[in-house]
Amino acid sequence: MTILELSDVCYTYDKGTPEANEALSHIDLKIEKGSMTGLIGHTGCGKSTLLRMLNGLLRPDSGKILLDGKDIWENPKEISKVRFRVGLVMQYPEYQLFDETVRADIAYGPKNMKLDEQEIARRVEAAASFAGLTPDLLDKSPFELSGGQKRRAAIAGVMAMQPEILVLDEPAAGLDPKGREDIFAGLERYRRESGATVIVVSHSMEDMARYCERLIVMNDGAIYMEGTQAQVFGEPEKLMQIGLGVPEVTRLVAKLREGGMPLSPDIYTVEAAKAALLPLLGGERA
Ligand SMILES: Nc1ncnc2c1ncn2[C@@H]1O[C@H](COP(=O)(O)OP(=O)(O)OP(=O)(O)O)[C@@H](O)[C@H]1O
Ligand SMILES: [Mg+2]
Repeated sequence: MTILELSDVCYTYDKGTPEANEALSHIDLKIEKGSMTGLIGHTGCGKSTLLRMLNGLLRPDSGKILLDGKDIWENPKEISKVRFRVGLVMQYPEYQLFDETVRADIAYGPKNMKLDEQEIARRVEAAASFAGLTPDLLDKSPFELSGGQKRRAAIAGVMAMQPEILVLDEPAAGLDPKGREDIFAGLERYRRESGATVIVVSHSMEDMARYCERLIVMNDGAIYMEGTQAQVFGEPEKLMQIGLGVPEVTRLVAKLREGGMPLSPDIYTVEAAKAALLPLLGGERA
């Protein structure tokens, strides 16, 4: 079932000036309810602009954004309600922490929603757990946290609003492999247990392959490719034309296949490669 649909959405920054810059050009897109969708593309191709459309921070010049089949701009006075339903975690959100304690920071969104104290407390704890923050961190000042912990606190703040759609702009940027893994694994658990739909921007094909069943590739303000992992990674030449590529492990498996190993072309993660290779290697040894 489609939860979010973009229909012929266009957007130009600085309209009517010499600096006018068409950032989104005739975008058509459907997002499946409960899915985790990855958005990839080069710097400046329009990913962040697209994300800002989804929760009504930016309004399309033309075209429509339908949430559950309803145009989110039908009644502009109600657009703030859309921001509760579609939660956006911006790039480097840790710079937006400001409260005295981590707990108060995470509670900020739910408080704005005018929920009662008990419900707020419950949501803060659940969100902290999904984001991978241990309870002892909740009463610290955000400024005592490590970089990765601050990032998780900011993500928890949006999760605590329990948006139906959680949208994240490069949530793992600048983190080490363990930090990236923690963030993505937490998102996946959140999606599974809450039933929310997740849309995530990443520059890492490895993260995309590991966690996102559907992929959207943007180029120059337009949708360039879209589909399942197999559909997108199955066309490596097309990805290379815009300077992107398939995951490293997929290239390695392709080389082994050329060398005669009977390996499937749709291997995109280290885990899948390991599962396919171990029996072959064991067989050789025997
Ligand atoms: N506030 C703004 N005013 C004017 N132009 C902007 C603004 N924000 C973005 N742009 C331009 O719109 C285009 C799309 O930018 P956007 O930030 O959406 O790309 P992106 O894919 O998120 O890039 P990155 O990977 O670097 O984050 C770029 O040409 C950018 O320079
Ligand atoms: Mg961006």
